Amino acid sequence: MSKSVDLAAVPAVALADGNSIPCIGMGTFGSDHADPKAVSDAVAGALRCGYRLFDCASVYGNEAQIGEVFAGAFEGGGVSREELFVTSKVWNDMHGKGDVLLSLAKSLKDLRLDYVDCYFVHWPFPNFHPKGCDVDSRSPDARPFSVEGFMSVWRQMERLADMGLTRYIGMSNMTIPKLEAVLPLCRIRPMLIEMELHPAFQQPELFDYCVANGIRPVGYCPLGSPNRPERDKTAEDAVATELPEVLSIAEAHGVHPALVCLKWAVQMGAVPIPFSLNERNYMANLRCVAEDPLSGDEMERIGKADRNCRLIKGQVFLWPGADGWEDLWD
Ligand SMILES: NC(=O)c1ccc[n+]([C@@H]2O[C@H](COP(=O)([O-])OP(=O)(O)OC[C@H]3O[C@@H](n4cnc5c(N)ncnc54)[C@H](OP(=O)(O)O)[C@@H]3O)[C@@H](O)[C@H]2O)c1
Repeated sequence: MSKSVDLAAVPAVALADGNSIPCIGMGTFGSDHADPKAVSDAVAGALRCGYRLFDCASVYGNEAQIGEVFAGAFEGGGVSREELFVTSKVWNDMHGKGDVLLSLAKSLKDLRLDYVDCYFVHWPFPNFHPKGCDVDSRSPDARPFSVEGFMSVWRQMERLADMGLTRYIGMSNMTIPKLEAVLPLCRIRPMLIEMELHPAFQQPELFDYCVANGIRPVGYCPLGSPNRPERDKTAEDAVATELPEVLSIAEAHGVHPALVCLKWAVQMGAVPIPFSLNERNYMANLRCVAEDPLSGDEMERIGKADRNCRLIKGQVFLWPGADGWEDLWD
């Protein structure tokens, strides 16, 4: 089997300003267990096989290693900067005045880029937790969402876009009430919103709200993040790739259930960003969106399979005195 995917067969999807973004990208969060070199090796392999969208973040701790791969690709790897769509995100401990610029400057230096394509506010709450902490860890600096606090971060994001350091700005882990409160205040609106999105957690209201507002949803954990950090696992969690509806459709198409999740996301109009260290898997993930689409009936069956099961609950972002993770998701 060929080691690359015909790029012309991987659809691009339109953004609200008429530009486009690849319909699928690669995630780069090593879930606290994959080391930076392993992730950047996978990015190098993914570039070779045809990925052009990479979802990065300062908190993933691997932007410097990924930057080396980008630099190599631009120098002799036959890839131009303009072909890539690279995202990064400001972490929750960099929400203070002046911090957002410092954070993007560090990401640009690490990624060895002059600009990113989209810079996200990773979470709409200020806090800090150490890498590898357990689920009950609480930061004394954690604060609940406030419109004022969020807008002070967003004003900094807008200035970064004005300066050309990012083409677009985006939000992540938002809810409809939060968006209703902040969108009317934005001078520059978010072009993309990252949200957890897989067949067991479809967030249809938020998804439709984004689309109605001209914001393209980017689906994270599109395979149900089987290797997510232990702190993000509970015994009740549904497994997207084991839902009977997904399994039967996978069998009908003769593919792994992971690929059904990705076809579904792309056909919904989301941009999934699956992570993989395994060449066979990341190659299959890219190829599957260019061939053998799901039928209307299969899309409908997956739509009805939603278990409304949030996996990334965000417990470690809770502030002292909060009742539980549901407080984050109004
Ligand atoms: N904005 C946010 O707050 C936020 C939150 C979470 C995640 N994200 C982003 O979303 C990305 C994706 O989420 P995620 O990494 O948590 O989970 P995911 O993409 O749902 O799942 C990744 C796991 O699935 C396995 N996998 C990948 N392709 C497969 C295939 N074809 N068949 C079988 N298994 C396969 C991988 O294992 P192998 O390595 O063995 O293939 C990997 O461990 C992250 O990397 C990150 O960039 C953003």
